Amino acid sequence: ATEKRETFSSRKLFILSAIGSAVGLGNIWRFPYVAYENGGGAFLIPYLVAILCAGIPLLFLDYSIGHRYRGSAPLAYRRANRKAEVLGWWQVLICFVIAIYYAAIIAWAAMYCWFSITKSWEKNADGAGGFFMGDFLQVQDEVTVGFDFVGSVFFPMLCVWLLAIVIMVAGVNKGISRANAIFMPLLIIMFLVLVVQSVFLPGAVDGLNTFFTPNFEALSNPSVWAAAFGHIFFSLSVAFGIMVTYSSYMKRKSDLTGSGYVVAFANSSFELLAGIGVFAALGFMAYNAGSSVDEVATSGIGLAFIAFPTIVSQAPLGSVIGVLFFGSLVFAGMTSLISILEVIVAAFQDKLGWKRQSATLVVVLPVALISMLLFPTTTGLYLLDTMDAFVNQFGILACALVIVIVFGAGLGMLPKLAKHLNRHSSIKLGTGWMVLVGGIGPAALGYMLINEVQSKMAESYSGYPVWFNGVFGWGMAGLLIVGAVLLSLVPWSRNSKINDPEFDQ
Ligand code: PHE
Ligand code: NA
Repeated sequence: ATEKRETFSSRKLFILSAIGSAVGLGNIWRFPYVAYENGGGAFLIPYLVAILCAGIPLLFLDYSIGHRYRGSAPLAYRRANRKAEVLGWWQVLICFVIAIYYAAIIAWAAMYCWFSITKSWEKNADGAGGFFMGDFLQVQDEVTVGFDFVGSVFFPMLCVWLLAIVIMVAGVNKGISRANAIFMPLLIIMFLVLVVQSVFLPGAVDGLNTFFTPNFEALSNPSVWAAAFGHIFFSLSVAFGIMVTYSSYMKRKSDLTGSGYVVAFANSSFELLAGIGVFAALGFMAYNAGSSVDEVATSGIGLAFIAFPTIVSQAPLGSVIGVLFFGSLVFAGMTSLISILEVIVAAFQDKLGWKRQSATLVVVLPVALISMLLFPTTTGLYLLDTMDAFVNQFGILACALVIVIVFGAGLGMLPKLAKHLNRHSSIKLGTGWMVLVGGIGPAALGYMLINEVQSKMAESYSGYPVWFNGVFGWGMAGLLIVGAVLLSLVPWSRNSKINDPEFDQ
């Protein structure tokens, strides 16, 4: 007998968990810089267009498939069309790769909460950068595969994985919902305090001016529009299988479209807030260095682990800024990691017909082990960088494009899915939605994919050796497709969810 499929006990908890997934490292360290680089205040226009024309419509596509076919990505797609199962496994494997390095970043951030108090980087002659690469990660000079272990990264990673396993084993209500109900309010409070504190730092106004000053000429540049669309897919966690999985746990009579708008609005609000906080802090950094904000503006790992430590050392009450900032990264990252893991756990649970606990342990333990083998090493940073560039930015685009083509136009399912979305929803969708999903979605994704392939072919990514990017970049991205095909060929277990009598086709 199969276990009854869990549901979120309330719509509020679904929305909170969906926001938990959407609000991640991308909101904090990616959006501010993308907006700044692509027109500042004027970026708001392509950004809003991207949300309304692609982000939200595709979010609804994910919701409709997950909620209508009530399954993890492979199961839901298979129920929609037998041949589509493989797309679900592709997403599962992409989530696997993201999970193994996402946990490493969360672990670094957790350590940096502590370093914000001890200010350990001040002892390194090369400052925060030297400390991060040298004392902390112990990155070796040569870009190759080395398994020299770095204990100071391993132990926080072990904690991250233990916490993740406890949450995942506990299931949708006792684990995922509860974790989000605790972490998300904490995140919001901590981040608000951080932003207020940053805005009052000397020089903050220059930072905000740099961030908001509109450059309207940017609007005539196609790459600015591509940046807006690219960011919003990533930011709303669209086409990763995450929203398919989460919406499969929503009660049958749910307001799907209304929930989607709430999630998108919350995600964007958080991004905007992050833009203010980050650029206020960068304004202070520039003021202290007697340089311009343009010179210190960065994003990603450099912003979090090199620029912010510098700010922590220089600002009044710097340790507080540090703990709030890195604590926010931990909470935002943890709730996203949970959502990524759920894609994997749910898929195997459905396919094998196992109970939650056993499926979780059998799936998450190996994921954790691989993660803890690869990343607390002297080459961990290189691996992380290449995998992120190829799987997260390139693999996911390819996968999203195929999904949108297959479900958007290929199978002719949009009218059926629209009807499903409209059944209990407050905001009704019509032809407009179908045109956006079937037309604008594939066009935008196709354009970005071509750009991405061209730029990745033009020069070896990040200046790494060609073989390294070949194996861990192109090779890994390709291997995922092969793996997906193989997994889709594995037969469904006899008591798997494919035969669930409760599901009516
Ligand atoms: N949406 C998250 C962010 O903005 C990133 C993410 C993508 C998380 C995919 C999980 C899966 O940071
Ligand atoms: Na986001």
